[in-house]
Amino acid sequence: MSTAHDPSTLEPLNPSTQEKTLHMTMLATPDMANFSGRVHGGSLLKLLDQVAYACAARYCKSYCVTVSLDHVFFKEPIHVGELMTVLAHVNYVGSSSLEIGVKVVAENLKTQEKRHTNSCYFTMVCMGEDGKPRAAPPLILENEAERRLFKAAEMRRELRKEVIARNRALHEASGEALPDSHVEGPAH
Ligand SMILES: CC(C)(COP(=O)(O)OP(=O)(O)OC[C@H]1O[C@@H](n2cnc3c(N)ncnc32)[C@H](O)[C@@H]1OP(=O)(O)O)[C@@H](O)C(=O)NCCC(=O)NCCS
Repeated sequence: MSTAHDPSTLEPLNPSTQEKTLHMTMLATPDMANFSGRVHGGSLLKLLDQVAYACAARYCKSYCVTVSLDHVFFKEPIHVGELMTVLAHVNYVGSSSLEIGVKVVAENLKTQEKRHTNSCYFTMVCMGEDGKPRAAPPLILENEAERRLFKAAEMRRELRKEVIARNRALHEASGEALPDSHVEGPAH
């Protein structure tokens, strides 16, 4: 008999639980490294974007796009040969956007020492078949930790809006074109 707890069915343990978390582990290989044998920041960001995408798309059961990335923190280097585990979680859902919190833990395979090496927040937008943003499934907060993450993400969302508004004012004051109103030239 198939039950919700039967791992062979690949069903969630509790059908009412949303798919909010995604973990991915991979080896840091030489193709990801810079000249000093450390994982290149850009290689890591590409991986984190993929994990954030997978987390958002699985949660939404829909295609998603990355609209912003902030609070990128390269806390400690990751060395070639270490195991990298990327932990992604849906912290917050607005209307069509989601905040995905991402954390990286590196493990030295010889000593088994684990280090929190990176963290950042992706804002992803849930997209409809028509290529336009569509409503993401409302987030069900199931425990105190999720409520804390939600509250913090809500505050970051307000901060982002403030930063965008201030940046717009700075551009207007300096007479420079905004990136979204003028496609030529660098976005400062
Ligand atoms: C993402 C995109 C569809 C949003 O378009 P838009 O016209 O700004 O749409 P909306 O104004 O309806 O905003 C949609 C959501 O994105 C959020 N958003 C828009 N700009 C944002 C920004 N700079 N930072 C954070 N969130 C942002 C809005 O707050 C809104 O969230 P909500 O629905 O939860 O309230 C559009 O900007 C886009 O296509 N960007 C390119 C995405 C891309 O190519 N990514 C790289 C490859 S995946």
